[in-house]
Amino acid sequence: MRKVVAGNWKMHKDRSGATDLIATLVAAKSGLPSGVEVIIAPPFPFLALAVEGVKGSAIAVAAQNCHQAAQGAYTGEVSAPMLASMGVSACLVGHSERREYFGETDLLVAQKVKALLEAGITPIYCCGEKQEERTAGRHFEVVSAQMKDALGALDPEQLMKVVVAYEPVWAIGTGLTATAAEAQEMHAFIRGLLRSHGNDVANAVPVLYGGSCKPDNAAELFAGPDVNGGLIGGAALDADQFLSIIRAAGDS
Ligand code: 13P
Repeated sequence: MRKVVAGNWKMHKDRSGATDLIATLVAAKSGLPSGVEVIIAPPFPFLALAVEGVKGSAIAVAAQNCHQAAQGAYTGEVSAPMLASMGVSACLVGHSERREYFGETDLLVAQKVKALLEAGITPIYCCGEKQEERTAGRHFEVVSAQMKDALGALDPEQLMKVVVAYEPVWAIGTGLTATAAEAQEMHAFIRGLLRSHGNDVANAVPVLYGGSCKPDNAAELFAGPDVNGGLIGGAALDADQFLSIIRAAGDS
């Protein structure tokens, strides 16, 4: 199974901070485990310098968002074909912050997934329950609905091009992490949902964990057999922390 560690920078860094972080990661990459796909997702203005900066390394560049249309009169938006033309190879979609602050629905997220696949970009599809949904024991139901609504219309060949990230909303940026057992339990559930589209799909799609994943808990989280790496927020802003998490994925 592929192992992937992706860093979501969210709305952080400026040009010089982005340049420094990319240069440090590229310089360190030769000493890193070769079996881990490393992706960085900087904000839009830094994508061009990121694509340029990672040239010659194995690091890939992702965007954090895209519009669902290929082009048009949508002031301020960025389309998937534009990202592809810049050398961006992956894109986050369905992140809980997009759902919460920008009103993104599963229907819209499904359209974005389709737009990304049509542009040849890997969708990193984020799902995960809120605290009250877990407390009410509805976490499997919520994740199942998110998976079905956003990915249900894809055929197996398209699904195999997707990366899934399970990010329990209550664990994002809070310092609260799912226990390794809670993460593995949900990842196994997601693997089962993928398996309903065929063994090829279940075996091809990495399922990443996200939510306060740090150097000191990464190894334990990644030890779960269905945890295939991580989608890292805060700790991806610091080269040493991000590299340490990548090493933990390599050892898992
Ligand atoms: P934190 O690692 O800061 O909790 O963020 C996780 C996340 O939202 C990654 O997309």
